[in-house]
Amino acid sequence: MENEKLIFSPNDLIEEKYKIYNGDCIDILSKLPKKSVDLIFADPPYNLQLKNELYRPNQTKVDGVNDEWDKFNSNEEYDNFTKEWLSTCREVMKDDATIWVIGSYHNIFRVGKIMMDLGFWILNDVQWYKTNPMPNFRGIRFTNATETIIWAKKSEKQKRYTFNHNVMKQLNGGKQMTSVWQISLCTGNERIKDENGKKAHSTQKPEELLKRVILSSSKEGDLILDPFCGSGTTCAVAKKLNRKAIGIEKELKYVEIAKKRLSQIETKDYIHLQLKEPEKKILQRVSMEELVKSGYFKVGEEIFTKNRKNSAIILENGHIESSLGVGSIHKIGALIKEIENCNGWMFWYYNKNSNIKLIDEKRKKYRIEHARYS
Ligand SMILES: C[S@@+](CC[C@H](N)C(=O)[O-])C[C@H]1O[C@@H](n2cnc3c(N)ncnc32)[C@H](O)[C@@H]1O
Repeated sequence: MENEKLIFSPNDLIEEKYKIYNGDCIDILSKLPKKSVDLIFADPPYNLQLKNELYRPNQTKVDGVNDEWDKFNSNEEYDNFTKEWLSTCREVMKDDATIWVIGSYHNIFRVGKIMMDLGFWILNDVQWYKTNPMPNFRGIRFTNATETIIWAKKSEKQKRYTFNHNVMKQLNGGKQMTSVWQISLCTGNERIKDENGKKAHSTQKPEELLKRVILSSSKEGDLILDPFCGSGTTCAVAKKLNRKAIGIEKELKYVEIAKKRLSQIETKDYIHLQLKEPEKKILQRVSMEELVKSGYFKVGEEIFTKNRKNSAIILENGHIESSLGVGSIHKIGALIKEIENCNGWMFWYYNKNSNIKLIDEKRKKYRIEHARYS
């Protein structure tokens, strides 16, 4: 099969929502538009450095990862490769995007250090706890039952990113989800087999894992990218969850498997999986001036701090006058507390009968009595 022509605009994906590119991810990533991707899931080579074949006690060969794509001459070569693909990924990420990188103890610590050195800011290290791990056949150490998935934003300073807290809570029976995910290895009907009935890809990930990744950190219609897409698990789940997807894979045989897998999915058959975060209620903005104009506060009325050590008088324009000067409830509050920002609504009190009440109570009352509908 000949290589696909590259697309250079994410808008092209509106027509053609799913793309699998055959080639080296560093090469293809560098041709994609900068800041165009909402979420990345990367399952890079593990750098297992397997020296010998592994046999079970009954002398049958273990079908582990011994593929050409996992071979590097040294850790240094692996690190340089990791630096390069992570840097190019960072460039195609939108400013509010996040990235997930999965790995085992063989590579995840190297990957994590490189991510931190490149400026990524780690949000979680999710542990995939495998319920059916491969035993340690030689009995010389514990059975390895986990892989780590690092979830990171582009930088410490990045303010916005998607986290669908309520969706994940719903998936977890109403309880907040933790960073330990108990999921079985990809087996049974989900495991893609070749014409000889053997695993088509040695490290096909379970769809449940990708379901959690994509549902938690992206929205419907978002563009998801997998630079090491293998059998196409990320793209397949993205399609089921009504997201757009780009997969990159250097081995043609896997590209073909991924394309076939995608072509067999109808997004509409998976509506039951497409959970959505409830829309946040945007509270009506109310100013102190509005409260004065509507008679909720009187001009000249006194407000004070909880300990009554400081007080101020309300002016006609909603500002207040204190011994420190004239300004907004927030500004004078900040001057009193000697901090940069103060939420005046939660700082000042007024007299109600013989009790004191936060001025925010009046704002709440105003919102109820003057609800604006749009
Ligand atoms: C760990 S596997 C990913 C498996 C995938 N998550 C799945 O569920 O099938 C890594 C894949 O990356 C591919 N790969 C390795 N180096 C690559 C590169 N430089 N560019 C693109 N793909 C690469 C390998 O051929 C392999 O299929």
